[in-house]
Amino acid sequence: MADRDWRGRAAAPGAPDAPRRRDRLFGALQQLFGRPAAPPAPPCLEIEGASAGPVDPGTTALRAALELGVDVDHFCGGKASCSSCRVEVLEGADHLSPMSPRERMVLGPARAGAGDRLACQAQIRGPVRLRVPARF
Ligand code: FES
Repeated sequence: MADRDWRGRAAAPGAPDAPRRRDRLFGALQQLFGRPAAPPAPPCLEIEGASAGPVDPGTTALRAALELGVDVDHFCGGKASCSSCRVEVLEGADHLSPMSPRERMVLGPARAGAGDRLACQAQIRGPVRLRVPARF
């Protein structure tokens, strides 16, 4: 049986066979773009000194903490207006959703600049470690 190209046509005599051309193409693409990235780590939350566990992607840190049995204040009910749910991000800040302008305003420039987040607004997308600051 004659070699066929990707369109099913008979390969021209002397033409390189299709698998070798495909391998060269993939090799060239890997050189250009590098190896495919490793799959992302599954979302999980660890609250320092309290609890840890897996969470569904996109779950807010507040909901995840409450589901893990950690008591986090949330006086405004998660409407980003009281800052009682403020948490300190110890690890995995890049695995949280970006900070919205409203969240930045409620936190204030000092706390937002220090990397604190409102647990009711920060959605978990990977492994994250947080600390719930002592209130009183
Ligand atoms: S619960 Fe009020 S700001 Fe998060």
